[in-house]
Amino acid sequence: MVSALMDKQTGKQAGESESKRNKESILEVNNLEIFYGEKRAVNGISMDIGKNSITALIGPSGCGKSTFLRSINRMNDLIPGARAEGEIIYEDLNILSEQINVVALRKEIGMVFQKPNPFPKSIYENITHALKFAGMKKKSKLDEIVEESLKKAALWEEVKDRLHKSALSLSGGQQQRLCIARTIAMKPTVMLLDEPSSALDPISNAKVEELIIDLKKDYSIIIVTHNMQQASRISDKTAFFLSGDLIEYEATEKIFTNPSVKKTEEYISGRFG
Ligand SMILES: Nc1ncnc2c1ncn2[C@@H]1O[C@H](COP(=O)(O)OP(=O)(O)OP(=O)(O)O)[C@@H](O)[C@H]1O
Ligand SMILES: [Mg+2]
Repeated sequence: MVSALMDKQTGKQAGESESKRNKESILEVNNLEIFYGEKRAVNGISMDIGKNSITALIGPSGCGKSTFLRSINRMNDLIPGARAEGEIIYEDLNILSEQINVVALRKEIGMVFQKPNPFPKSIYENITHALKFAGMKKKSKLDEIVEESLKKAALWEEVKDRLHKSALSLSGGQQQRLCIARTIAMKPTVMLLDEPSSALDPISNAKVEELIIDLKKDYSIIIVTHNMQQASRISDKTAFFLSGDLIEYEATEKIFTNPSVKKTEEYISGRFG
């Protein structure tokens, strides 16, 4: 895995803090700062993200949740003027290092966005597109991955008889589960979800929530949500962001019942944001 993420094989790299690595963590964020031009949007945050757990990011609009999330699979690289400093350690490598192969990284750290964004292609092709691009050609293998990913995304039963119909003919909730299936097909280890159910009706939302809880046996999940009930229902740990700072990061139950910081309490009880 490690070598696949390196553009150049330069031996031991980026592993400065290797000795203190926490085996329970999948990602270790150390003093991460993110800038858009001169403006700093994330102010030197540090946090460990647990393996096979759900971490919720909460906080008012503009506090830096999406900026942080996008830095984890280097999606901010696509924004002119965006840059990050500090470390995000994954598999003993600093994700922010220039030597990281971002295409390989994004396969391991997949992302699902707020608005379902299926390709205007068939359900089947939505899942196989990237696999084919990566060189997988065998139809039986592709069929197998399509079925497995759709089952994991709890969509198989609803679409198995229409795999070659357009993905755009699906409902919003189904489209979002298809986007999750598309991410699963790449066999990631980490899934980044940016408000994945905010555009959905309550029933689709409930399905996506159930799915996310189910996925944590296989994946480490980081989810941004504005929905406090959702964060408290599904996440193990919750991080509260405010103006680019990480204010409090604790077990979800603690954050929602007995937060240590007054600002957290004010936010979760709806007094601002
Ligand atoms: N592409 C960009 N160019 C310049 N500034 C940006 C860009 N994207 C975000 N910002 C700024 O960075 C800060 C954090 O934005 P971000 O989108 O991360 O917030 P957020 O917590 O995800 O908010 P929301 O809950 O509204 O999605 C804001 O001040 C925002 O204006
Ligand atoms: Mg956002």
